[in-house]
Parts: sequence; C-alpha cells; structure tokens
Amino acid sequence: MKARRRVVTASGASAQPARRTPTVRTPKSPFVPARQRRPGTAASRTAGDPGVRPGAAEVPAGLPVDLRVDLGRGLVLPNPILVASGTFGYGTEYAEVVDVNRLGGICCKGTTLKPRIGNPTPRVTETPGGMLNSIGLQNPGVDAVLEKYADTWAGWPVPVIVNVAGESVGDYVEVVKRLDGMPGIAGIELNISCPNVGRGGLQFAIDADAAASVTAAVRRATDLPLLVKLSPNVSDVRPIARAIADAGADALCAINTLSGIAVGPARERPLLGNIYGGLSGPAIKPVALRIVYEVSQVVSIPVVAIGGVTELADVLDFLAVGAVAVQVGTAIFADPTLPVRLVDELAGECRQRGLTSYRPLIGTALPKRAGAPSSKGAEYRP
Ligand SMILES: Cc1cc2nc3c(=O)[nH]c(=O)nc-3n(C[C@H](O)[C@H](O)[C@H](O)COP(=O)(O)O)c2cc1C
Repeated sequence: MKARRRVVTASGASAQPARRTPTVRTPKSPFVPARQRRPGTAASRTAGDPGVRPGAAEVPAGLPVDLRVDLGRGLVLPNPILVASGTFGYGTEYAEVVDVNRLGGICCKGTTLKPRIGNPTPRVTETPGGMLNSIGLQNPGVDAVLEKYADTWAGWPVPVIVNVAGESVGDYVEVVKRLDGMPGIAGIELNISCPNVGRGGLQFAIDADAAASVTAAVRRATDLPLLVKLSPNVSDVRPIARAIADAGADALCAINTLSGIAVGPARERPLLGNIYGGLSGPAIKPVALRIVYEVSQVVSIPVVAIGGVTELADVLDFLAVGAVAVQVGTAIFADPTLPVRLVDELAGECRQRGLTSYRPLIGTALPKRAGAPSSKGAEYRP
C-alpha cells in the first residue's frame, strides 16, 4: 500500500509518473495479498473447469488470438484492456515505462471547458482494499489539453478516448465540439457524475432524464464514438442505462467511483478537504460486477467494465458478466505495467483454452434463459 502513497499526489489529478524509475515492480496484486488463482484462470485449470472446451487443443504460441473489440461507430480497439480516466494522466506521463501502444485504449483525465484547480487537500486516502479520492477534476481545460497532447496522440496507434466532464449540458456540448474533428481523438467518454448546476446540483448520472438529455445533446454535437460512464450511486442503474443507450450512446462504461468519506485522525472532521471522495480499487469490484451484470442484460450496446481490476481473474469475471472490455484504474498507481501484462495474459488464457478469439469468454455467467429475471441487485433483501 505504500507504493500507492508514493505515486498519488494530493495536489495532482494523476499519478506521479513512475517513468524515471528504472525498475518497475510487478506485484501480482497491489491491494490484496497474493491469493490462490481461482477456477477459470490458466494456472488452476482442471478437467472440470467450464472455461475449457472439451477436446480443445491449445492454440500454438505463435498464432495470434483475436482480441479486437468493436465499441461502435468505427471505434475498434486492438484489445479489450484500457486504462481508466484519472489513473493514467494523458498517457504521455507513462510513455517511458509502458509501451502505451500495446494498450487497447487510453481514457485520459477528465477534461472540462475551463481549467479547474481541483478540490482542497487532502485529496486521497487509503481504505481497506482501495482508496478514496476527491481530486475534483483538476485539469487545464480542453483547449490546453488539445494543444499539449493532440499531436502526440495522433502519432500513436493506441486509441485515445477523452473523458469529458461539465456542470451543464452546454459545457459538455462545447467541450465535445472542440474535440470533434481534432487529430488524435478516437472517442469521447462522458463522465456524467458531476453536479448539474442547471438542475440544482443534481448529478446527470443519477437521473434517467438528465442522463438522456446530456447524452442526446452530445450525440447531436459530434459523430465521434460516444461512451457514457455510469455512476454506481443509484438504487437501480438499469433505467438510466437504457435511457442513455436510447439517447444515442455507442457504449456504456461501468462504473465510476462510489461516494464515501473517511474521518480525520483527531476525529474532529472528515479527512478529505472536500469531505466526500470516490471509492475505487478492489473493494468496489463486487458492486461493479453486479452493475455490469445488470446493465449488459438491458442494453444492446457494448458495456466496458471498470472497478477493482488487479489481475487476469478480474478481467475474466467482468467478461463473464457481459463486459466486452475492461478498464484498469487504481491498480495502475501501484503497478503501471499491469494493463499491458493483462493483454498478454488474456491472449495466453485464450490460447490455453483453445480459443483463437476472446469473444467466447463474454457473457458466460449471464442467465441462459431469455426473459429470466436479470438480477436481484437493486431488489436484493438480506
Ligand atoms: C485518482 C482518481 C481520479 C479519477 N478521475 C476520474 C476522472 O477524471 N473522470 C472519470 O470519469 N473517472 C475518474 N476516476 C474513476 C476511474 O476512472 C474509475 O472509474 C474508478 O476508479 C474505478 O476503477 P478502479 O477501481 O479500477 O480504480 C478517477 C479515479 C481515481 C482513483
């Protein structure tokens, strides 16, 4: 856990680049002690493992596995492992430690119309199995982002998806208009978990009508592939997901952080300068799994999973509940090389299962019967 402290700053929106460090640790999992590999991963394969096709021969190491994933509107990622917004800066910060072009995609730090200095410190703290952050969307504003990074991104084969945030529909539309047609921008990821000033502080992500209206407005403003990021801070995400899909999103991303607080050392006030922070890391994986499971059953657009990925088994779990791709976030602070390693491990997993594509791994844990109850998530009663 020390490693994360070293790389997450209270003043910056992204990790301190670990790129100057010549040797990068490659721990198995940054947040949990090394655990036994679970069924479904190569190391634990047995004859009874449902992931193994009976009689399937291993795909020889030299043969490629098709990891491509189509997120719609021409956005085809080379593989399904992306890095999550706010945890990989603008990509350039990591370019000397990681071969960024081996990633499936980069979601850059949340970008707003005007520069934002972010929230008061402290902005991050550790929690059991994760972290709380309240960076507050610190960023230099869309014009500065374009000026500084667009040319570099345009020279990279890896698709860069710009994470867009705003306080009103007009903000989102204006940012997107400035991104539209610029070189190096492969798509937009709408972060709609921001206060909607136009509607009295409501977050767009917690109201189906508000979520649909911002999605529709952005859809009208650009032909860029449009991903919309769901918030877990709702009782039932399904109507919101459906409304966003109906409003023209090409794909959904799930999930953003869970709202939480920590208490200061003297117990006189909450610890974070902003009081509230967003919980991320392995602690939120079960919630993310539940939401991906629910959402992937009610929309027909691709779902990209985010939440607590630290190893291949997490990727396989998210694919099993219907995700077509996965973003790695908090775990990057402890190990920036993890996402690229996961690309290789996923290909290796497919080869050992006799698969020439990872697609058969998608949706294996979803209900088999059409019309079956999709979940007990929001309805769950202990
Ligand atoms: C320090 C930090 C900054 C983040 N900044 C953003 C952001 O700007 N926009 C956004 O949509 N999500 C942001 N997130 C949320 C992540 O993209 C991701 O959805 C969340 O952390 C869950 O994934 P994880 O458990 O793998 O970290 C941030 C997360 C962290 C930890």
